[in-house]
Amino acid sequence: MKEIFKEIAKRFGTPVYVYFEDILVKRAKIVKDVFSDLNYLPTVAIKANNNPYLLKILKDIGFGADILGEGEFYAASLAGIEPTNIVWNGNGKTPEQKEFMLKNNVKYINVDSIEEFEYLWKKENNFELFLRVNPDIDAKTHPYISTGLKKHKFGMTFDQARILLEKFRERISGFHIHIGSQITEISPFKEALEKTYSLAKEYNVKKINIGGGWGIKYKNENELDLNKLKEELMPILKNFELVISEIGRFIFAPSGFLLSKVLLVKKGEQKTFVVSESGMNHLIRPALYNAYHDIEVITESATKEVVDVVGPLCETGDFIAKDIEINLPEIGDLLIIKNAGAYGFSMANNYNGTTKPSEVLVKKDGTLKLIRKRQTIEELFNSCIID
Ligand SMILES: Cc1ncc(COP(=O)(O)O)c(C=O)c1O
Repeated sequence: MKEIFKEIAKRFGTPVYVYFEDILVKRAKIVKDVFSDLNYLPTVAIKANNNPYLLKILKDIGFGADILGEGEFYAASLAGIEPTNIVWNGNGKTPEQKEFMLKNNVKYINVDSIEEFEYLWKKENNFELFLRVNPDIDAKTHPYISTGLKKHKFGMTFDQARILLEKFRERISGFHIHIGSQITEISPFKEALEKTYSLAKEYNVKKINIGGGWGIKYKNENELDLNKLKEELMPILKNFELVISEIGRFIFAPSGFLLSKVLLVKKGEQKTFVVSESGMNHLIRPALYNAYHDIEVITESATKEVVDVVGPLCETGDFIAKDIEINLPEIGDLLIIKNAGAYGFSMANNYNGTTKPSEVLVKKDGTLKLIRKRQTIEELFNSCIID
């Protein structure tokens, strides 16, 4: 495995996101198979990873797409995903976007609020509308990626959904629930579904979008047990005529790695800092959520040390890992940052005038394919007006 990373660094330079097709396909098939006994449309949450080459691999397995707006629609169409398999999500949709989705034949809309329904959908017959309900359930995950409690900005209350159903029942196709991301316990999914099903029964609603959120193992937690999830959810889900899911992290995270060079090893008074060329610009999850990413070092050194792996940017929050035990590297050694395939590149930014990494796919046959070129400084500034 290390040899491949070395070769990639040599051929394509660093920093670079590296994806493995065999892992991606394996994970996608697991997601697809969970509810294959049902009329099931698995979609891929493009927010987790928007590389069209990877999306095309998923499309070929049978995935549709969950998109937020025109940008993610564009990624989906580059991958050849049919608009009839696309779900449009978001809590701030505009009339212009609605026209765009209509023109492009997007089929499913998750309506986030009663206000959105009034504003955009009251007189609209061209889409299948799913009401996103907020079941007020604790997803037991990081507060920033928890979405299903009353205090969160997402979804409508059951009472608000009832108001819409009383007035517009024939216009509403289904319900949508998404209570958060990186959820590793079954009970929040089950409770949310049970609550929503009781509402569905009241109004004879036969379609459901169960969202995403399936958690993976970053450190000590266990990956969500999908056999158990199936066992617990099937008795309810089998009552629906259509089940849609929107999975991102579970498919992408373990299939992607960020490969970054060591710029310097700095001995502070209290800590040793390994300075990586990628920081919160290329992988913001540690800075944003204190997220953990395991790191393997490609080095000759065998000395283990507890260090902070930090980026080169002007923020103390610019770190990849804190107090992590690794083989102490030397300048020029490589860091393999794991589980970086989801919310890695898609959340990358240009802070401090830095450019985004390239992306390389290790295909099933072991060949390497560049699937996104490294961003250039010219690209960064070519929209600026200077006179
Ligand atoms: C509405 C919606 N669907 C699906 C997802 C994908 O979640 P995950 O990547 O955890 O599967 C998200 C992300 O949080 C989301 O907001």
